[in-house]
Amino acid sequence: MNEINKQVENQYHRPHLFEDILNLLAQQGVDLNNVLRSDISGVDEFHVRGAEISKELVSEFNFNGLTVLDIGCGIGGPARRLADEFNCKVYGIDMSHEFIRTAQELSRLVKLDNQTKFIQGDALALPYKDASFDVVWTQHVQMNIENKNQFYSEVKRVLKNGGTFIYYDIFKKNNEDLNYPVPWANEPTVSFLQTIANMESILKNLGFVRTKSTDQTAKGIAFLNHLVQKMNNEGPPKSGLNILMGNSTIEKMSNLLNALLGNKIELESGIYSK
Ligand SMILES: C[S@@+](CC[C@H](N)C(=O)[O-])C[C@H]1O[C@@H](n2cnc3c(N)ncnc32)[C@H](O)[C@@H]1O
Repeated sequence: MNEINKQVENQYHRPHLFEDILNLLAQQGVDLNNVLRSDISGVDEFHVRGAEISKELVSEFNFNGLTVLDIGCGIGGPARRLADEFNCKVYGIDMSHEFIRTAQELSRLVKLDNQTKFIQGDALALPYKDASFDVVWTQHVQMNIENKNQFYSEVKRVLKNGGTFIYYDIFKKNNEDLNYPVPWANEPTVSFLQTIANMESILKNLGFVRTKSTDQTAKGIAFLNHLVQKMNNEGPPKSGLNILMGNSTIEKMSNLLNALLGNKIELESGIYSK
């Protein structure tokens, strides 16, 4: 593993993550032999607006029965949603060993392990054959990746001709420094923000055609405003993304919110076809 990848793995490392989630479910009185996807939906989607935005994104495209790759899948919430709601076969890859172990265990727990397959690995060297997937999906991952060209080239390589690339991401609007920590980086060394124009130009050069793009900034700000206010008043929630972000959750969320409010960064989702 190279130095940046080690730092990324450290950034997200939470020892005993699966066991912590199990303890939390037990404390909430959930029967551990009958855990539902909805029981873990507050923790298993690690991006601004969590399950809410994924629900919107899946309504914009017909996923029925398709084979999907989630790049930087985290602990697998979006992959399980696609598998469960659309009978997809979903593959997830992530740099974090602990996230992948947790993704596998959570899929077993909610009985979706036949339809989801998670492996540890690097988005820049995907261990899949060319033209393996109908859809490549990625949410809040590329800001940890410096070599954007290689990232999107790998997306293209593993997609079938006519396949679909769906993203939901954080982009910079200018070169102003952010305050750290933010949810994807404790320090600037693992943050590689690009502009939307940069991504568009790479995708165009690779031959992708844009079907749709949606500015998600206002909804992201409204969500974070509510969350940060709540956390400032009541402290970190008992369940929720603080399980993934640790002690600095409030600081990370506040810095993210302030960067959005200060017009330094923006959120966008979109769909491209190969
Ligand atoms: C903010 S989390 C998002 C997780 C997931 N996409 C979600 O929305 O729930 C970012 C994820 O990207 C992964 N990641 C960052 N760089 C990566 C790389 N080069 N290859 C694979 N995964 C990477 C991290 O390990 C982390 O799980």
